[in-house]
Amino acid sequence: MSPEMSQLMDPKLVVLTAPRSVAAEQYRALRTNLEFMSVSGALARIMVTSGTPGTGKSLTASNLAIALAQAGKNTLLVDADLRRPMVHHLFGNANLSGLTTALTRPDEWEKYVQRGPVGGLSVLTSGPIPPNPSELLSSPIMMDLLGQFSRNYDIVIIDTSPVVSFTDAVALSQGVDGVILVVRAGHTSRKGDLKGKERLTQVHARFLGVVLNDIAMQDGAYSYY
Ligand SMILES: Nc1ncnc2c1ncn2[C@@H]1O[C@H](COP(=O)(O)OP(=O)(O)O)[C@@H](O)[C@H]1O
Ligand SMILES: [Mg+2]
Repeated sequence: MSPEMSQLMDPKLVVLTAPRSVAAEQYRALRTNLEFMSVSGALARIMVTSGTPGTGKSLTASNLAIALAQAGKNTLLVDADLRRPMVHHLFGNANLSGLTTALTRPDEWEKYVQRGPVGGLSVLTSGPIPPNPSELLSSPIMMDLLGQFSRNYDIVIIDTSPVVSFTDAVALSQGVDGVILVVRAGHTSRKGDLKGKERLTQVHARFLGVVLNDIAMQDGAYSYY
């Protein structure tokens, strides 16, 4: 990682910024679990969502993507949260084009993919925020793009908006191989978490597991820093 890059990146990308921290170790453990799960069936496209907002989806998706790339997987991180896109902020990338641009020019999608901060990691930021996110994300073109992504990468991690507020992630779940639900300790309402899970279960999304984020704030056992 060059000094310029570390300046632009969010320090909470701990897998890169604090690789020896307990938090970084947890992301690597998540990666290992996914590797085990993929033994019993292809897990190329993995969506990260939550019931309610602000649980740490973007941080989880980004740290996981870094950990996967470090393990030698050719990884694509896609920001499909067209409500509150964060990936470009976290990585310090430009966001003049991205997923929404790729949706309007699907034949040229590869042009909008940017290089990530570690070898093997590519990033597709959200691109300009459109007026009709759910329409775009549930379109046949989006489903087709997801297919293209998985043909070009070993693994695709997709950051999304929360399930309870918008239909975006529910629609997207139809084009992925598995869903990770992020729950934030002492922050999200249990009701919202359950509601989110319920909505995804209704459409037969494949659940991979729940990530409990930020237990640090509860018991002080560890933090990201
Ligand atoms: N474990 C954590 N420790 C410290 N701050 C966190 C943690 N998880 C999330 N945050 C902070 O909470 C906010 C929301 O996180 P983010 O990953 O953007 O959530 P989401 O994508 O679910 O909206 C951000 O400011 C992020 O830095
Ligand atoms: Mg987010």
